[in-house]
Amino acid sequence: MPLICVCSPKGGVGKTTLAANLAWALARAGNKVLALDFDVQNALRLHFGVPLTDGRGYAARAAESADWSQSVLSTGSNLFVLPYGDVSEAQRWAFEECLTRDEHFLSRGLSSLLNYPGLIIIADFPAGPSPALKAVSRLADLHLVTLMADTASLSLLPHVENNRLTGEALNQKAGQYVVLNQSDNRRQLSRDVTTLVEERLGENVLGVIHRDESVSEANASQQAIFDFNPASSAAFDIELIARRIACILDINVGDGTVHSAPGMSGF
Ligand SMILES: Nc1ncnc2c1ncn2[C@@H]1O[C@H](COP(=O)(O)OP(=O)(O)OP(=O)(O)O)[C@@H](O)[C@H]1O
Ligand SMILES: [Mg+2]
Repeated sequence: MPLICVCSPKGGVGKTTLAANLAWALARAGNKVLALDFDVQNALRLHFGVPLTDGRGYAARAAESADWSQSVLSTGSNLFVLPYGDVSEAQRWAFEECLTRDEHFLSRGLSSLLNYPGLIIIADFPAGPSPALKAVSRLADLHLVTLMADTASLSLLPHVENNRLTGEALNQKAGQYVVLNQSDNRRQLSRDVTTLVEERLGENVLGVIHRDESVSEANASQQAIFDFNPASSAAFDIELIARRIACILDINVGDGTVHSAPGMSGF
């Protein structure tokens, strides 16, 4: 296992970028990692060098196929991606119908992956509520709610605190944490929002990622931020978040297995 979900009430906040770079970070530390896309935008694969023209994925045939692992693509020695794939409107609808009506649909489709020894799964979700986010809640070990250090994200904080993404607590295992993205020290408003969210959520803020042009440039060249610009502030921030996740979930990060830090708990 473990299964880590990256979600948000808001679009365009950096969920896919975070999911991809966390997958890179944990894979670089020697773990087998699968990046799993639940978003019909099918963008997660692009972070791993899969060409735009490659529409392979699991969602189109998920309703008929009991095992989605056949659609896993290998992108490196220990890094894999399971793309959503190109789908017609009817296929998307059928997939979401199965997710909504059959409570075992997701666990069946992911069964062999969830049981693969030592495999870390990082799942990326579309913005806001979705059938996939609701269905995955029972299986997930940790949820990372991504927000931006701006007033639009701040106004959605009550959605996160009051469980409005799925109507119930997102996570019943290690909990849910907030990652604040694109914090910009040069802008007063961004500094203020960052401070306010940190004060309000305390240890439930797992990390802050600074606004960094290297991130967009790394994305454009389909590279991990760690390869594109290892000295960037975003690379440092995301590495730190990966280490905190490893700490919470007892994942190996290369310097020995770290154990849960006392006092760390998701809300
Ligand atoms: N820390 C950062 N600094 C600068 N740019 C960033 C940072 N994080 C993400 N971005 C940029 O923000 C944009 C949105 O990122 P991304 O696609 O990951 O967001 P998303 O939440 O997955 O969006 P969607 O809701 O559409 O799925 C991208 O252009 C990305 O390069
Ligand atoms: Mg996305």
